Amino acid sequence: MSIPAAKAKLLDGRKGLVVGIANDRSIAWGCARAFRAFGAEVAVTYLNDKARPHVEPLARELEASIFLPLDVAIPGQMEAVFEEIERIWGELDFVVHSIAFSPKDTLGGRVVDAPREGFLKTMDISCWSFIRMAHLAEPLMKNGGTLFTMTYHGSQVVVENYNIMGVAKAALESAVRYLAAELGPKGIRVHAISPGALATRAASGIPEFDALLEKTKVKAPARELIDIDDVGAATAFLAHDAARLITGQVLYVDGGYHIID
Ligand SMILES: NC(=O)c1ccc[n+]([C@@H]2O[C@H](COP(=O)([O-])OP(=O)(O)OC[C@H]3O[C@@H](n4cnc5c(N)ncnc54)[C@H](O)[C@@H]3O)[C@@H](O)[C@H]2O)c1
Repeated sequence: MSIPAAKAKLLDGRKGLVVGIANDRSIAWGCARAFRAFGAEVAVTYLNDKARPHVEPLARELEASIFLPLDVAIPGQMEAVFEEIERIWGELDFVVHSIAFSPKDTLGGRVVDAPREGFLKTMDISCWSFIRMAHLAEPLMKNGGTLFTMTYHGSQVVVENYNIMGVAKAALESAVRYLAAELGPKGIRVHAISPGALATRAASGIPEFDALLEKTKVKAPARELIDIDDVGAATAFLAHDAARLITGQVLYVDGGYHIID
């Protein structure tokens, strides 16, 4: 799917932070492109100097007015991003948190064998970083706003090879509900988007991912794989005022795969 020229600039004047673009296959890129197509301004981050050359041309294409490094494991870097947003924009309308990480030895093994360090790292990068982002976004969302994170169905059922990431995504989805309840009175809405399997760099760390893609294609009621623009369009919709009374959701963008046994 491609985002239509988006003649109606449904998010005109809105400003948001997109975290998680690694390359042009990243889900975060699909989201940033959709938000931009609907008229929003975006701030973009890149993981580190090694990632920068891959992300910079994409940020340029998005005409990103803020472009900063962000490794959520480095103390102070997230705070610096929000300080810059406050300095340049003074406010914020949406955040897209599209990151996850688990050390190879932890992700590749059984949950029952998970080492403490690997478990904590997985939870820190994949879950707590979203809670922290919500904390820093709250004071900037003076007129309300929307916070998004990316999850996967392996949080709800046991998906072969998803392992410890399923545990982290379950915590993340629960965090979405608590944050939605706490921030709702301020007009801040919180959602998890649950895309179907997509061949991205993060996915390449999951053993036998190609088999999962094939299974998804065969079983999903839509009989096709989703792409990052499908995720972008659904996310941008939830940021629009038309969705102002929808919050705390886990929205599946998976061709219906999750309803099939
Ligand atoms: N690909 C899929 O099939 C799929 C399906 C459902 C959900 N998701 C989720 O979507 C999100 C985005 O993943 P993707 O598939 O687009 O892959 P991706 O590799 O393109 O994106 C993952 C991003 O996480 C970032 N990241 C990792 N560690 C970080 C850290 N310490 N600080 C800041 N950023 C860090 C990477 O730099 C990268 O930009 C993840 O949460 C993933 O679990 C992916």
